[in-house]
This record gives sequence, C-alpha cells and structure tokens, in this order.
Amino acid sequence: MSATQEYIDSNKDKFLDELFELLRIPSVSTDSSKKDEIQKAANFLIQQLESLNLNTVKKFETPGNPIVYAEHCPHDDRPTVLIYGHYDVQPSDPDELWDTPAFEPTVKNGLIYARGASDDKGQAFTHVKAIESFVKTGQDIPVNIKFILEGEEEIGSPNLVPFLEKHKDLLSCDMVLISDTAMFAEDQPSITYGLRGLAYMEVEVVGPNRDLHSGVYGGAVENPANVLCEIIAKLKNEDGIIQIPGFYEKVVSLTEADREAFAQLPFDEQEYKKTLDIKAVHGEKGYTTLERASARPTLDVNGIWGGYQKEGAKTVLPSKANAKVSMRLVPDQDPKEIAQLFKKHVESLAPDTVKVTVTEHHGGHPSITDLNFYGLKAGAKAFEEVYGREVLFSREGGSIPIVADFKRVLGVESILMGFGLTSNAIHSPNENFAIKDFYRGIKTSAKFLELLPDFSS
Ligand code: BES
Ligand code: MN
Ligand code: MN
Repeated sequence: MSATQEYIDSNKDKFLDELFELLRIPSVSTDSSKKDEIQKAANFLIQQLESLNLNTVKKFETPGNPIVYAEHCPHDDRPTVLIYGHYDVQPSDPDELWDTPAFEPTVKNGLIYARGASDDKGQAFTHVKAIESFVKTGQDIPVNIKFILEGEEEIGSPNLVPFLEKHKDLLSCDMVLISDTAMFAEDQPSITYGLRGLAYMEVEVVGPNRDLHSGVYGGAVENPANVLCEIIAKLKNEDGIIQIPGFYEKVVSLTEADREAFAQLPFDEQEYKKTLDIKAVHGEKGYTTLERASARPTLDVNGIWGGYQKEGAKTVLPSKANAKVSMRLVPDQDPKEIAQLFKKHVESLAPDTVKVTVTEHHGGHPSITDLNFYGLKAGAKAFEEVYGREVLFSREGGSIPIVADFKRVLGVESILMGFGLTSNAIHSPNENFAIKDFYRGIKTSAKFLELLPDFSS
C-alpha cells in the first residue's frame, strides 16, 4: 500500500475527531443570527489548510459569507484541480424530529448523524484530509491544487459568482473536483454527469382587506386560498405536463442512447417505493422514475399557507394565501427566462377579484459534464481502486448552480465525485454520512490526484 493510503488508515480517529469539530459549528447560511458560526467554520477550515504548508491560504471576505481559498501549484507540467465544497448547512429544523441533536455529531450503526455530515462538510473535508495525507508523509502533492470552500451554497451562492468573474486568473484551472452529490447506491460508486437547474418562485394572492367570517361573507367574496389552489392546479395537466407556455421550448430531449443508459442503471423501483412508504410513483407521462427524477424538468409546491392553521376549527375566510413553488430545470432551460414565463402565466390565471403577486427567489442553471473528459476517467479509476466496483455514470436531480458558472466563467468541466447516499437525509432530520464512505472518500480523493497526471498526457 502507498504511504498516503497507509497514513489514511492510521489516522482514522483523528480525521473523525476533526470532522466532528467542524460539524459542531451550526453554520446555517439561511439564518442571519448565525454569522459568528459561519466565521467559526471558515476559520476552522483556514486553520486546517494552514497546517498543510500550502503556498497560499486566504480568507476572502465578501458582502455575505467568507470564501476560504488555498492554492499550491508547484508543477509546470501537471494539471491544476480546483476543489470546491461548501461549509454552510441547511437549518436543522424541525429539531424535535432528530433522534440526536443536529449539531452534536453522534455515531450509530456506522453512520455519523449531524447536520452537514453529508451535505457538505463531511464530503468536502475528505479532500482536505487527502491533501494532508500527501503532505504529512513528506510527499509532493501529485498535481497543482486550489481550494474554494464557500459559505453560501445553500442560499444560491450570491457572492461566489461575482468572485469567479473577478478572480478568473487566480482561479484558472483544468477542472473542478466536487464531492457534494450521492453515489448511485451503497457500495456502488458513481460519477454524476448531470445536475438540474432551479427557478424558485413565490406567489401571493390577496383578497379582502382582513380575514372575514366565512359564514357571513363566504360565497360572496373571493377566497384567496381557493384561488391559489386553482392557479396551482392549472400549472400541470393530468399527464404531469407543465402548462406554462414556452416552458419546454429549450429542453434538450433525451436521445435513445440517453434513455438506454438510464435503463441500464440498476434501479429497483419496488425498493424505492418501500423506503418512501408510497404505493405508487408519479410523474410526467412517458418517462421512467430515474428520468423524471434527474433529466426532466419539474414544478412543485414547496410550501403553502394561508388562513387558520392552529387547533380546532375557526370559521374564517383568509385575506391572503401564499405558496413557494420550485421548478427544477434541465439543459438548456434558462432560470431567468423560466421565472419570467411562470410569472406571466400565473398573473394571466388570476381572476380580477384578487391581487396576485409573483416574486422570484434564487435560481441556477442546469449542467452536463462531457463524458469524454479525461478527468472523469481518472475519477472512475480512482473510485474503482478504492471501492473495488465498476463506476456508474448517472444524472441527479439536485442542483449545484455554481457548476454551470465554472463552465461559463472558467471554461472547465466539473467532476462530481459524490461519496454520499440518497439515504443520507440531506436537508432533513437525522442527516447522516457513513463513516466508511468518509474514509473511502479520503482514499478516493488521494488516489484521483495520484492517477490524474497519467490521464492528462
Ligand atoms: N448538495 C446539494 C445538491 C445535490 C444533492 C445534488 C444531492 C445532487 C444530489 C446542494 O447543497 C443543494 O442542496 N442544492 C440546492 C440548490 C441551491 C441553489 C440551494 C438544491 O438542490 O435544492
Ligand atoms: Mn451541498
Ligand atoms: Mn444542500
């Protein structure tokens, strides 16, 4: 075994302790009262990177949360890998549904339970530890590396995009390496070559100037909650086809080869239904579950409220109702265009008995990685050596919008080398990450960096 892989094996406890330290910091980016925690998490990573004798380690302050940057580029003749990850996490609520506290990492049955364990602290940290394994065994890091660890991924990376544009030269590289996705199944390594984009909207329907007695006024005054439901119901037809004019115009259709590749993946629909406790799957007519969940666009209500929500029955006709609606996008849909089409269509569905306001939250572009890119081949080989299984190539339905920006601004492909699992419950209570995947992740990252020079020549 190589010195690197041996170092990883003999430092497992230390690595886990350090990850736990990071996981104890509640660096929730959606919560403005957590700014100190965000700084703590950034500082922790700065210290980690500073202990590795890299040429540069620097914290870039932004109008929002800091960007942790590092670089070590001693080789003239070798590729440069930009490693991206995020140290911000989703809120932990509802806290009462966690079996153990979200920010007290706890190990049970080989799983680390904590917010951020998989998304993305645990996964991003694998690369820091991989670099450490070269440095602490007195070896050269086999390729040039740069790190960008951001603190705003979960709120749409508002300050990272301008940062990329401003520091194009500093960030120049041959590829981006990201571990912020899931493997196809347990012990089944996979490289994700497609991610969906996102357009996230909010709709507000306002009727009378106050909540009304539903007996005194009901039947004579428009109910905004009813209107909201009617509008939402019109956004898809019974075949699950989105009814917004122009919505599908730029969608690149799946080719026969694409569909064949999806069909080849070892997906078990019975098992899928069982883990979710559902009787049947549901979605756009004419597509399989895997296609629906990763390569076709969607429209979903993410939250809906209005009127009386507490105990018992209060007879009231609400004065307003609201919904948050997300649309997942596929190549070549444009989030800004889709947001405009949504707004126009929803406004056109509004009766003149109410006021309907549509606003836009953050969004992002979809992305596809070129399957012939040599970096993917090195990634696949690294995975195979560590996991002992052939790698699958799949697309995923989640979004990492910055991937499209890396391509647009820096002109490079991203290698999505996820070590997570769909069962990690990211964004949900009891988020977890398998300890064995944390260690295999570190090994795979180190192996990838070792193998890469051979694939680039
Ligand atoms: N790591 C996830 C994205 C992800 C998860 C991709 C699983 C593939 C598989 C990321 O942190 C995330 O949650 N992204 C958000 C979008 C962002 C703009 C808030 C998402 O997908 O909802
Ligand atoms: Mn993530
Ligand atoms: Mn996330």
